[in-house]
Amino acid sequence: MSQLIPEGVDPSIPNVARMYDYYLGGKDNFEADRAAADQVLKLFPETRSAALENREFLRRAVRYLVEAGVDQIVDLGSGLPTQGNTHEIAPQARVVYVDYDAVVCAHARALLAGSNVAVLQADVRQPDRLLEDLRELVDLRRPVAFLMLAILHFIPDEPEEGAGAYEIVARLREAGVAGSHLVVSHAIDARPDTTPEALEIYRHATASLSLRTKEEIARFFDGYTLVEPGLVYPKDWRPDTPPERESSVGYAGVGVKR
Ligand SMILES: C[S@@+](CC[C@H](N)C(=O)[O-])C[C@H]1O[C@@H](n2cnc3c(N)ncnc32)[C@H](O)[C@@H]1O
Repeated sequence: MSQLIPEGVDPSIPNVARMYDYYLGGKDNFEADRAAADQVLKLFPETRSAALENREFLRRAVRYLVEAGVDQIVDLGSGLPTQGNTHEIAPQARVVYVDYDAVVCAHARALLAGSNVAVLQADVRQPDRLLEDLRELVDLRRPVAFLMLAILHFIPDEPEEGAGAYEIVARLREAGVAGSHLVVSHAIDARPDTTPEALEIYRHATASLSLRTKEEIARFFDGYTLVEPGLVYPKDWRPDTPPERESSVGYAGVGVKR
């Protein structure tokens, strides 16, 4: 990986953003990230295609938001810049990338200088501070879309510190006016026989996994109306071409606040 290693970052701890970058075929990862990701891939070979399907869902969901007239997008847990970043899919929109990871933010800033894009290093488990910072960057009196793709499964219902996943989503919903959107993708416990081993790998990484059922993921949309086709496998959300695979390891949906 390149020169952008901010002070205080320990490259020997597997990092969930860089493991994901590795699944996607990116180069912004260290040896420890690749080793942990390879262990996960051994248990769940479909992780790589699931990550790619998740990015494709992001592309179609952001395209939908643009067509729906949303011009402010907050991408929470945005991850390392890769191909098809939100601001590239929605070039006319104001895009704010939020991540708590110093390496992610350093890369995002290096890539994005000068565009209609902001990068905010923040932990979503501190929603008060997050919203205070966001008010400086977007106009919350107008509709905004909150993207929460592949981040909520890193946040338990009741973490030791800060707000839990449902509380964070509720705070964001309260902060958005009618016409605001929530976009979520989230991993499920697709193979209970091998899941404990995968959970163990993530326990030694920068964030543990909190897998949820479809019903539990649906609860994130309380107070929103799910747009068609509802909460489905990411590959089945308004696909451009018929999906090749049958099953998936997660669910995805887009909700609008009425
Ligand atoms: C698997 S990546 C997903 C990247 C992108 N959203 C996507 O779906 O392609 C998860 C990202 O969430 C970030 N993340 C995890 N917990 C977070 C938190 N509490 N606050 C902010 N970002 C967080 C990680 O640093 C990582 O970049």
